[in-house]
Amino acid sequence: MVRVRLAAPADVEDIVRVVMAAMPYDPQWDYRFPRRGKFAEDHYRYTKMLYEHFLDAANDDWRVLVVELTSGEEEGPTVAHQGAPPVPWCMSSVGDGNDDVQSGAQGSKIVAFSVWDVSYIKKRIHGSSYQPQNPSLYIARHGGDTRRDANPARVKASKDSAADSKRHFTKYGRYAIRLQILGTHPAHWRHGYASALCHWGMKIAAEEGLVVQVVAGKMGHKLYTHLNFKTLGEVVKQVPGEEMKVISHAMVFDPKEQARSVASYEGNKAISVAFCVQDTNYGIHEHCQRKDVLKHIGIVHSPMLQFDLRGLRI
Ligand SMILES: CC(C)(COP(=O)(O)OP(=O)(O)OC[C@H]1O[C@@H](n2cnc3c(N)ncnc32)[C@H](O)[C@@H]1OP(=O)(O)O)[C@@H](O)C(=O)NCCC(=O)NCCS
Repeated sequence: MVRVRLAAPADVEDIVRVVMAAMPYDPQWDYRFPRRGKFAEDHYRYTKMLYEHFLDAANDDWRVLVVELTSGEEEGPTVAHQGAPPVPWCMSSVGDGNDDVQSGAQGSKIVAFSVWDVSYIKKRIHGSSYQPQNPSLYIARHGGDTRRDANPARVKASKDSAADSKRHFTKYGRYAIRLQILGTHPAHWRHGYASALCHWGMKIAAEEGLVVQVVAGKMGHKLYTHLNFKTLGEVVKQVPGEEMKVISHAMVFDPKEQARSVASYEGNKAISVAFCVQDTNYGIHEHCQRKDVLKHIGIVHSPMLQFDLRGLRI
């Protein structure tokens, strides 16, 4: 059985195992950590520290979601009912009396993870004075500044490029849910797991009147394009004077734009879909559950979301 759920601190080792297996396929990883082979101990220590930080309930600007196989048998499109994210997940804290938020079940296996920046919640409450929690700073203060697996100049170039990427998103307003990191274990690629994780954020965005922002690496770009994210522009990581550079893409998923796109797609049925999305329910009327319509708005690969959609009414 495949299950999508919020992660808990006890999941850290399993998540780091997937991180270490998946992320080296993203050129940004090698760029920042070119000596990770030689200094594997540092690489593991600081990667784990980062995920412990994300998973700490006190750091509530972040949510970590995982895809877990619970039977030992890998399945394709079926996701258990209890795996569907309760609404609104983003407003509840990890393990907060929610039956779906468990970890460490015997025989379970985490195969994909995603880290979401949900600091928009506190920005809305506290206004522009709110300083979001900063995991990089935390790692730097706890020895990360001296980690031997990283190239410090390139780590800095990566941070600078993240700041630069903001210009692409300004027209979408102050509030967004942002996908920080995403990975699927290579042994489990192309089963729709990353899509299911993305759909969680896409659903939150539709419900809360936000967009989803991501700065995509090479593989991520293919995935998000498949999910109907729009490419806004290039983000370049390059140390001044160094020839080597890594190019990523700022991308956005705007449910309202999707709604318009669907509305122009297929007459009355599509308008029903559009109305739903704009109404922030992200629901689909039963007679609109046609695969071609779903595909057009990028949700054909989310068994989880399709389940949700079937459960919703206009
Ligand atoms: C990118 C990544 C997260 C995709 O995970 P996944 O679970 O295999 O993704 P999905 O199965 O949900 O893919 C859905 C669709 O995205 C597209 N896609 C995903 N990976 C692709 C690839 N390697 N090449 C081409 N298209 C791809 C396809 O359209 C795919 O649908 P299909 O399998 O029916 O053709 C995974 O390859 C990975 O972990 N890569 C290394 C880390 C990384 O690059 N992370 C993203 C950083 S921004």
